[in-house]
Amino acid sequence: MSLSEHEKNRTAWNEMTDVHFNHPNYKVKEFLEGNNTLKSIELEEVGDVKGKHLLHLQCQFGLDTFSWARMGAVVTGVDISDRSIERANSLKEESGLPATFVRSDVLDLAGKIDRKFDIIFQSYGTHCWISDLGKWAKIVSDHLKPGGFFYIVDFHPIATVFEEENFSYFNKGPYRYRDEPDYCDKDYMIQNEMVEWQHTLADIINPLIAVGLQIEFVHEFNECAYPKTKDWYKKDGWYYPPGGPPNYPQMFSLKARRPE
Ligand SMILES: C[S@@+](CC[C@H](N)C(=O)[O-])C[C@H]1O[C@@H](n2cnc3c(N)ncnc32)[C@H](O)[C@@H]1O
Repeated sequence: MSLSEHEKNRTAWNEMTDVHFNHPNYKVKEFLEGNNTLKSIELEEVGDVKGKHLLHLQCQFGLDTFSWARMGAVVTGVDISDRSIERANSLKEESGLPATFVRSDVLDLAGKIDRKFDIIFQSYGTHCWISDLGKWAKIVSDHLKPGGFFYIVDFHPIATVFEEENFSYFNKGPYRYRDEPDYCDKDYMIQNEMVEWQHTLADIINPLIAVGLQIEFVHEFNECAYPKTKDWYKKDGWYYPPGGPPNYPQMFSLKARRPE
């Protein structure tokens, strides 16, 4: 069941890649001029990546992957979308930055990458696309070196409870939709069906503990990486609803280490 749902998302993300690539919010032009696309939260919390082997899960067309490379990491990016990986490889040629890209479902990564990493990273809009977080945690653990760490910064699953009527924190979905505005280009209606899952914070943390990773921190933030609706405002690089910073978390981050 779930892999075919992921394959539907592969088609939808093939559709969405160029919408995002051509949208000013993704800042492809600025990236090619030398800008780093990473945000202050992950820059601070991941820390020094120089000389580290870094695996970026769900990298889309790789702007953040390349940004880690610019900071000295040896990077590999993975994404389910064929078009995203094509775009990432074109950017690799255009920018001259070293990176390896693998087109794969995260849950199907076993055997496709035969090395282990110091750091596994994923950010902003990732866990909601993964149907089985038990399998995901095993993939993460299997690709970490002993002593290496996993880091995620993503949208907090509780936020939707405050923003949509009758939304249950505990209803895992899957949520299927099409003909809805894209999160980035709000004038673009997504044509292919997308399938998302609602994972609670516990659903995300417990599988990592179950595969033996040691949680070093979980942080919560009321700033948001993108505007949920057109009336949100931007301050210091983060987005907020019209009333100001909300009294519930918009995002969380987590760091978990594989023991030596
Ligand atoms: C919202 S983007 C997040 C990436 C990054 N924050 C960005 O904005 O470029 C979600 C990415 O997850 C990828 N994705 C969705 N399901 C996936 C899966 N099962 N395995 C690997 N990648 C997947 C999509 O193709 C897309 O590039």
